[in-house]
Amino acid sequence: MKQLKSNSWLWACLLAACALVLASAHAADAPAPPAQIQAQAQKPGVTPAHNAEATWREVRAGTPGVTTVRGTETGVLVSPDGNTWRQIRHGPVTFYGSLLVILVIVAIALFHSRKGMLRLSEKPTGRTLVRFSNWERSVHWLVAISFVCLALTGGNMLLGKYVLMPVIGHTLFSWLAGMGKFIHNFLGVVFSVGAVLMLATFYKDNIWHPSDAEWIRKAGGLVSREHVPSRRFNFGEKIWFWLGVGLFGLVMIASGLSLLFPNLYETRHAMQTAEVIHSIAATLIFCMSLGHIYLGTIGVEGAYQSIRTGSVDETWAKEHHQLWYDEQVQKKLGKGA
Ligand code: HEM
Repeated sequence: MKQLKSNSWLWACLLAACALVLASAHAADAPAPPAQIQAQAQKPGVTPAHNAEATWREVRAGTPGVTTVRGTETGVLVSPDGNTWRQIRHGPVTFYGSLLVILVIVAIALFHSRKGMLRLSEKPTGRTLVRFSNWERSVHWLVAISFVCLALTGGNMLLGKYVLMPVIGHTLFSWLAGMGKFIHNFLGVVFSVGAVLMLATFYKDNIWHPSDAEWIRKAGGLVSREHVPSRRFNFGEKIWFWLGVGLFGLVMIASGLSLLFPNLYETRHAMQTAEVIHSIAATLIFCMSLGHIYLGTIGVEGAYQSIRTGSVDETWAKEHHQLWYDEQVQKKLGKGA
């Protein structure tokens, strides 16, 4: 019994010694508290533990603390810019973006109700010309289909909680939004590859030609319903190609990829900026795409057939792209001779 008692004392002393060693080692590793807290702690009656207000003031100011996770800004608990970004995203970006989309849809609807479909003035000949190769059509549809899915899922991210959630409820909306985000991430990469291929495939026929000046002067004959001679692509299509696909498309791709890989090197401020740029570029390219889709479907007779089948009737070629038609006829004659 006596032996047991003296052993207990020995164990207790050993444990106390270990605890002291561990505590002092930990104290040496532990980061010094922020200067403001140290200063306040020196005041009589104020300890760091009771100084939560000052601690949170520093946290809210974005003062970095210490974390075992290594990376850009991992020690910053709260980003003060986040609130500004949230207000911009839910304020002007959403409001003016939606307004612009609605205005474009109304303008197209009014235009169509007044002018109707642009029809061929002569009868189709039944003879066709190849307008798009299989490769060109494949690239076009890869971009077009991925774009439409991105527009739907991206639009849902920006507006879904105002438009869809009140109708379908929280549970279904959260499932749909999560699924949509997954699809958006995946198709963003598909669209990026497709858009680069599209730029490489079509750039030659979208270079400026003196005949474009005539097209600009007559505003493409869209209002007067006059046929303005153009080469393979008219100036309107060239604007869509360079401004829509080229500029807004590439801006969207660059900002989208930086959002897809957030932990590579970026600060939160850079990501917030990328998000705002991405939303604005997406809204602008979407508005332009509405015009393109309108003209490619119900706006111009025979246009959809060209990208669906790859061929157009000679009458269509003559009336919409007279200079291109002349070139094709010359080529045919050259081959025949
Ligand atoms: C989803 C619906 C779409 C439809 C119905 C459609 C329809 C068409 C049609 C009919 C043409 C041929 C025009 C002609 O023969 O002169 C065409 C060409 C073209 N489309 Fe689309 N399109 C769609 C989406 C898109 C999207 C989302 C993009 C790009 C983001 C795009 C980019 C192009 C380009 C670059 C051309 C060649 C014209 C040029 O280079 O200027 N299309 N499209």
